[in-house]
Amino acid sequence: MKNLALALAAGSLAWFGLPPPRVPPQPRLGQLVALVQDIREDYYEASEVGTAQAHRHVTESADAVVALARGEPEAADLVAPLEQFRADVRRQVQPPRIAAQANALVTRLAVQRRIATSPPQPPNLHRASMLYGAICAACHGAAGRDGNAAAFMSPRPTDLVADGNINPLSPFRVFEAITYGMAGTAMPSFELVPENDRWSLAFYVFTLRGGACAGPRPQVSIEQLATTTDSVLAAEYGERNLPCLRRFPDAVSEAP
Ligand code: HEC
Repeated sequence: MKNLALALAAGSLAWFGLPPPRVPPQPRLGQLVALVQDIREDYYEASEVGTAQAHRHVTESADAVVALARGEPEAADLVAPLEQFRADVRRQVQPPRIAAQANALVTRLAVQRRIATSPPQPPNLHRASMLYGAICAACHGAAGRDGNAAAFMSPRPTDLVADGNINPLSPFRVFEAITYGMAGTAMPSFELVPENDRWSLAFYVFTLRGGACAGPRPQVSIEQLATTTDSVLAAEYGERNLPCLRRFPDAVSEAP
């Protein structure tokens, strides 16, 4: 996240040549974006499931997001709207209202703070396939399901080819999962993997389901592909164009 990194540098004392404080501020704005997006998805699920436990899980996430914002000076202006958001989550208002609030918050965080929501360079899917084999396959399986290590985990690693798991996700969302990991699960943070590789991995995940690409590929920008879910792409461009869009995300150099 080039822009986020700049924001981090600008906000830190090291920028002014002073020694870093013992507990440096951690402007985790990207993580805030990821958490708010999680809540948006989990809230729909929780209201479908309807159990107290499902709802408690979402309320806890809303608590976590408020706590994160309170501890983050750069997010000071977001504390009040996030508290309102949490209050609505607790009151169990209608899911579309929560979704609208979550979208507005994400826009404020991602767009106004210039957190990049698409890759700085076109993803390199060939490189990503090798990286995936090296650092993801043990848990998620080489083909996206049933990794060797999976049996010992609870929750189990997400099946990355099942419609129900992938359809609600965008590459940006997967990028954030790879970057920050998923609290309370075995999904680790890969923050130390270079940003380009994390983006390539995020796009690669959407190719695991395969499917033939007969072309011609609809013109869709990389920015749009990065933030759009499979279900929305299929609805807008037709199910049969999905494999082309996902396998050749860089329309300029790689379109068939
Ligand atoms: C140590 C095991 C482990 C490794 C290694 C691992 N994951 Fe995961 N991953 C998990 C688990 C467990 C979950 C399920 C979390 C849940 O159910 O909430 C998960 C969830 C996910 C999800 C779903 C995210 C969402 O928002 O629902 C994606 C996508 C994903 N992993 C991709 C990857 C990629 C790409 C890599 C390699 C860079 C990777 N994972 C490496 C264990 C792992």
